[in-house]
Amino acid sequence: MHLAHLILDPAAVVAPVNRRTFGTFVEHMGRCVYTGLYEPGHPSADADGFRTDVLALTRELGVTMVRYPGGNFVSGYRWEDGVGPRDQRPRRRDLAWRSIETNEIGIDEFVRWADKADVEIMYAVNLGTRGVQEALDVHEYVNHFGGTHLADLRRANGAEKPYGIRMWCLGNELDGPWQLGHKSAEAYGQLAAATARALRAAEPDLELIVCGSSSSMMPTFGAWEATVLEQTYDLVDYVSCHAYYEEHDGDVGSFLACATDMDHFVDSVVATADSIGARLRSKKKIRLSFDEWNVWYLSRFQSQPPVDDWRVAPRVIEDEYNVADAVVVGNLLISLLRHSDRVTAACQAQLVNVIAPIRTEPGGPAWRQTIFHPFARTAALARGDVLRTVVDGPAYQTDRYGAAPVVDAVATYDAATDDVAVFVVNRDQTRSVELTIDLSRFGAGAWSVAATTLHDDDIRATNTAERPDRVVPRPNRQVSTRSGGVRIVLPPVSWTALRCSPIRSTDGLSDS
Ligand code: AHR
Repeated sequence: MHLAHLILDPAAVVAPVNRRTFGTFVEHMGRCVYTGLYEPGHPSADADGFRTDVLALTRELGVTMVRYPGGNFVSGYRWEDGVGPRDQRPRRRDLAWRSIETNEIGIDEFVRWADKADVEIMYAVNLGTRGVQEALDVHEYVNHFGGTHLADLRRANGAEKPYGIRMWCLGNELDGPWQLGHKSAEAYGQLAAATARALRAAEPDLELIVCGSSSSMMPTFGAWEATVLEQTYDLVDYVSCHAYYEEHDGDVGSFLACATDMDHFVDSVVATADSIGARLRSKKKIRLSFDEWNVWYLSRFQSQPPVDDWRVAPRVIEDEYNVADAVVVGNLLISLLRHSDRVTAACQAQLVNVIAPIRTEPGGPAWRQTIFHPFARTAALARGDVLRTVVDGPAYQTDRYGAAPVVDAVATYDAATDDVAVFVVNRDQTRSVELTIDLSRFGAGAWSVAATTLHDDDIRATNTAERPDRVVPRPNRQVSTRSGGVRIVLPPVSWTALRCSPIRSTDGLSDS
């Protein structure tokens, strides 16, 4: 058994927990929208054709914000195809995913879905095949109150009030040669700056996100961010980050440590943004919108023949997630929370069917993939402030990322309830960890602790339509409280959430 130790201090605050850390992503891709969140005729469909089983799971997941409508899709999208009478909406080729877009769902329907799910929308405009005018047009349609052509069109389409969308992505992954309308950093920076200026002329206090690199593996990573930010620094609020991880060639050890890469990625983008800020003598700090992150078995997708039959809602990248994937997803959320001072928005990609925590079958059930659970628990328990969390524990060697800690953790402290939440992974594949958590700096003598752990002796175990609850977090019985702290045993390849509540002297006394 390994030993690890953690001392928490309520004064060591990184930043408040940003609720927007728990964002997700809905792209018109594969079966995310069609037969994912929308399926008229499904037994659970409501009057708008939305699957209420998926809506219920979305709420349970604790999602706060949804990026929409893409993704690669948005770089060829004409938003106006998706408004007005449905029987007059055009069918179009989606060149990003070589499928057919029926436009049955457009912005008006999606806003209705988002209202039902109680989530904020982060809207991406097309800066691939389009530009400033079309960005202004969609902004007028969704956010202008009325008395103009496009705002009145929205009202005629049934939405009297503007939608008030605040978060706007200035395109998607335009550094990628696969992207429709792919551009050089200089050309994109110019277009993003012009679009930002125009959108701010329409509505000054929008929150604008400029595209960073589509991955830290891009040859232009760093240089792209620097060039784009040089042109947009004073005009935007965020730069985007995208990262997908997978297990390569059975190297589980490296895969389990991939959150160290996310840490490094964030630190690199922060350093790049701050260096531009310094050069511009600006006091402003650019924040990071990590608006695509997840486990994605991208190499499997790339080794298959391309989707090529131009169908509506084909099955694309419906990855089935196992226990190790869930531990990694929990760990990636630990990394995002740890950086809450600079990463103030994040979207797990995607929500339903397409590399997603929620799976559905057309006409059939909806279920929680393994990766659903760490997201849902973290979203529910992370409250108040994120605390600086440094684990004193062993390290191990990985092929991809060098030496990595066996135990990685982050904690939050909610001054309103005095609850401390700790999220922790054990990356060792064979050995358990005995973790002690010192809470003596919080003043309380005694604590009650609820701990749940996601673990399975078979790290390849998955949830399926037939066995939807094969992998779920279970109460961890190897937890005990001691004066001023907690001791817990973390099994190999596991993710654990602890909620520690101080026992007040009146706790346990009845009213009588
Ligand atoms: O989420 C799947 C795809 O990954 C998105 O469309 C794109 O932005 C990214 O490369």
